[in-house]
Amino acid sequence: DGWNIALLGATGAVGEALLDLLSERQFPVGEIFPLASERSAGQTLRYNGKSALVHDAAEFDWSQVQLAFFVAGVEASAKYAEEAANQGCLVIDSSGLFAMEPDVPLVVPGVNPDVLSHYRNRNIVAVADSLTCQLLTAIKPLTELAGLSRLHVTSLLSVSALGKAAVDDLAGQSARLLNGIPAEEGVFRKQLAFNLLPLLSDDEGSVLQERRLVDQVRKVVQDEGLPISVSCVQSPVFYGHAQVVHLEGLRPLSAEEARAELEQIADINLSEEDDFPTQVSDASGNASLSIGCLRNDYGIPELLQFWSVADNVRFGGALMAVETAEKLIQEYWY
Ligand code: A2P
Repeated sequence: DGWNIALLGATGAVGEALLDLLSERQFPVGEIFPLASERSAGQTLRYNGKSALVHDAAEFDWSQVQLAFFVAGVEASAKYAEEAANQGCLVIDSSGLFAMEPDVPLVVPGVNPDVLSHYRNRNIVAVADSLTCQLLTAIKPLTELAGLSRLHVTSLLSVSALGKAAVDDLAGQSARLLNGIPAEEGVFRKQLAFNLLPLLSDDEGSVLQERRLVDQVRKVVQDEGLPISVSCVQSPVFYGHAQVVHLEGLRPLSAEEARAELEQIADINLSEEDDFPTQVSDASGNASLSIGCLRNDYGIPELLQFWSVADNVRFGGALMAVETAEKLIQEYWY
């Protein structure tokens, strides 16, 4: 009993976290098929106290599974998603490759699960990226109260979102600099350790991230003209994105009212008024969202301002994909 499930990207950071969550949340798994490239085929992973063999995705028969999580990045999704979908497997894709395709539902599971009803269009469902999920999950209770007329977001990005090489690069740079050795150029164009970088390369840099966030937010809230201003800054943090959010409702929203509302939301950790959450103390390693520093902007009091942190791997990557699958199975699967 349960669903036969493939996990493409099982040996990656998000894949590992996803395996943990499936077993922690007692997801109804029949058989699990961890998939990766031929590089790691033959490795074994732990799932539910048992070992599971990693298969090469290139040799996998997708008709053996009803559901597949794709957390291996754009290139792997481009290679396998349509093939899997055509063989009757429902693909829950976190790569972003299909996010803006009009006939593919783009989901933030706590925000717009109703679009999952269109999953049969292509047999592909796109999970919104970690920045979009973090932002929209945080503002949902507030916009339900006061509506939404305008958003400003500054995102401070963790390096793990860029993969393992970026994590190693930051660790190496930090160690070298602390030992008085100059940082070498690696994944980042300039020194990231003890520094902040406003603009990275064009293909995986902040401009791309900024546009992706704007496009995805507008698609999820179904408002193509939503005024939203975004900037992304690469920060020297290993795990967890932080966001500074300024929100303007259709009516003014006081910090007290916002606090009272957010206190009711079980899935959001709201810091005490004299405290604040950080990536290291609150986000890293947790599949949850933390908010603090809720206040009305001093210079423009109509704006409500807050700070949020969430682990891009466990919350933004793994939890959002698993919750999408849970909602789909509960409400829409037939
Ligand atoms: P592999 O271990 O074989 O490289 P991360 O982002 O943490 O580096 O993880 C990426 C994950 O996606 C890994 O499991 C990696 O497998 C997998 N992956 C990346 N590209 C491909 C591909 N073209 N085909 C199959 N799996 C891929």
